[in-house]
Amino acid sequence: AFEVSIPALDVTVQVGESQSIVQALAQAGVRVKVSCEQGICGTCLANVLEGTPDHRDQYLTEEEKADNDQVILCCSRARSARLVIEV
Ligand code: FES
Repeated sequence: AFEVSIPALDVTVQVGESQSIVQALAQAGVRVKVSCEQGICGTCLANVLEGTPDHRDQYLTEEEKADNDQVILCCSRARSARLVIEV
């Protein structure tokens, strides 16, 4: 599990092994716009303020993934214990 925080909304959630970041945020009442939910369309893209994503999408280019400043919330996870994002 890892933690995702959205300072602008004053929200922090734990993302369990069996759920996505989008699902964990939904449980806290934060609805992220999604479409494909498969890491393809880019609808759920968010900015990363802190932490390192574990990119599992096919939307960002390899170069963008290496920058680690954006994350696809429907399917990517975290390499760090905590991700701070801006949606
Ligand atoms: Fe399509 Fe996340 S909803 S990439």
